[in-house]
Amino acid sequence: MEQTPTTPVDWGPGLHVTAGHGVNVAGYERYLGRWSRLFVPSLLAAADVADGQALPFADEVFDSVICQLGLMFFPDPGRGLQEFRRVLRPGRRAAVCVISTARRAPQWGILAETLSQYLPDERDVLHLSFALANPTGLESLFASAGFREIRVHQETREARFDSFAEYWASFETATGSLPQAYRASWTSSPRRPGPGQDSTFRI
Ligand SMILES: C[S@@+](CC[C@H](N)C(=O)[O-])C[C@H]1O[C@@H](n2cnc3c(N)ncnc32)[C@H](O)[C@@H]1O
Repeated sequence: MEQTPTTPVDWGPGLHVTAGHGVNVAGYERYLGRWSRLFVPSLLAAADVADGQALPFADEVFDSVICQLGLMFFPDPGRGLQEFRRVLRPGRRAAVCVISTARRAPQWGILAETLSQYLPDERDVLHLSFALANPTGLESLFASAGFREIRVHQETREARFDSFAEYWASFETATGSLPQAYRASWTSSPRRPGPGQDSTFRI
């Protein structure tokens, strides 16, 4: 017997969501997002955007430049700071936030140290997050880029995971060099790291 749809079919131009309803983000992710994100790097490269070492702006056009948790990942952080200074109006400020040492940032530090045991050739990459942890080094980098009146503050923030499982899940699904290295280590090392298998993973 022919079935009659109980809801009207909302077939039409534009974004295909049911009329009157929002986008189901999880559904979109399952259906399309998992593939569409794979094209993002090529798309950004084609558009010639997003490189902090070659900002697409004229000289002296901004009152401030801020960069949170990014500078240490630039291939050449000094070059990035020169760009920051170039686009700033005279007398204005750049502010950057970088991660401290692996010991002071254990949520990433523990994984970086542990993965380095499994992937010793990748130690520098795994510790990139902490590459600008030295306050004196950071100050010198700013000075070399032509900045004056440089101040480096060390500040601590605390965030909590309710359980180890929640902490671990943040790596299982995340993007970033450490989660990528962790997932790569599944296949490249016979000693797969993971919770419960190695006491160094317990925090
Ligand atoms: C840990 S994320 C921080 C993202 C965000 N600012 C935040 O605080 O959550 C590091 C960011 O640095 C960016 N990044 C890395 N190398 C870069 C470069 N050469 N130029 C501009 N951004 C870069 C990455 O694209 C990424 O978004």
